[in-house]
Amino acid sequence: MHYRRLGSSGLQLSALSFGAWVTFGSQIGRGTARELVATAWDHGINFFDNAESYAKGEAEAVMGDVIADLRLPRDGYCVSSKVFFGSAREPRPTQRGLSRKHVTDACHAALRRLRVDYLDLYYCHRPDPDVPIVETVWAMDALVRQGKVLYWGTSEWSAAQIREAHEAARVHHLHAPSMEQPQYNLLHRERVETEYAPLYAQYGMGTTTFSPLASGLLTGKYNAGIPADARLGLEGMEWLQPTVLGQDDGRLSRARRYTALAAEMGFAPATLAIAWCLRNPHVSSVILGASRPDQLLQNLAALDLANELGEDIWARVEAAME
Ligand SMILES: NC(=O)c1ccc[n+]([C@@H]2O[C@H](COP(=O)([O-])OP(=O)(O)OC[C@H]3O[C@@H](n4cnc5c(N)ncnc54)[C@H](OP(=O)(O)O)[C@@H]3O)[C@@H](O)[C@H]2O)c1
Repeated sequence: MHYRRLGSSGLQLSALSFGAWVTFGSQIGRGTARELVATAWDHGINFFDNAESYAKGEAEAVMGDVIADLRLPRDGYCVSSKVFFGSAREPRPTQRGLSRKHVTDACHAALRRLRVDYLDLYYCHRPDPDVPIVETVWAMDALVRQGKVLYWGTSEWSAAQIREAHEAARVHHLHAPSMEQPQYNLLHRERVETEYAPLYAQYGMGTTTFSPLASGLLTGKYNAGIPADARLGLEGMEWLQPTVLGQDDGRLSRARRYTALAAEMGFAPATLAIAWCLRNPHVSSVILGASRPDQLLQNLAALDLANELGEDIWARVEAAME
């Protein structure tokens, strides 16, 4: 494993990390979740990503349970949560969003479910148009000062919103966000590479990027339809199909071109796609998802590939995506 600093902070995260979305608490059972965390840990992964909304809190409960069961040393791993969507089935106004109240309540609930005394990373899962950004910055700062959160950040905020949070922190002498959690993959790169470009140097912003395989599309598993046991075929995940497969925008055909090229060059498409994410020096950690340990093992091979492959390969990959 390689470790990278979270932006200009002193925290070293594994270049590949592991997240719980869709899988923990819903798609997979506790036994598989345990195997996945154990495999990740054995390969040097030190960051496990979660959110209040994943399986309505159940993903955090399962992760907390298996981490405790595996007796991972608390000072050896980092765990995150995210606040915004809520974990209640039908959230009341105070059970979602980024108000001081919900940011605080959600932190306490995540600590309980994950069975930890503090969250290493705590994200605002989306911007909240109904709460002044300065209120959220104050709430995050309070949690940091109370020792309940070490680093806080955002997820899928615009560059302008991130700037506003930094400005509020500067004016009021509060802890500023350290990281952003954006989507980043071969099919979705504009925000990380262009919109955020000035923020890396200006604020020392780190990124923990998500969906390196575009929810599985870049493995080629959807090239010929939706397998029943894959994410897009799961009951309740129908809403994700148009986003992942695209609608008359050539997304599926670009993915097909990509997977054909990867096969032609002799690489597993998943491994190559993750290696591509790792090439970006502004990426602190690529958060992987997996529903089975063999997927995780294949994805972990991206570390070596990222070091081995030359520019000629990457030029061919990028040309195939146009
Ligand atoms: N901040 C946010 O808004 C946000 C949003 C999304 C995700 N995330 C975080 O990022 C993590 C990763 O995102 P993601 O799960 O979307 O990542 P992803 O890598 O794009 O998709 C992972 C899924 O692809 C399939 N897969 C993975 N490796 C494979 C392989 N080698 N061969 C075949 N299929 C493979 C598996 O699904 P199937 O086996 O079911 O097909 C797996 O669950 C999440 O767990 C979460 O922690 C954050």
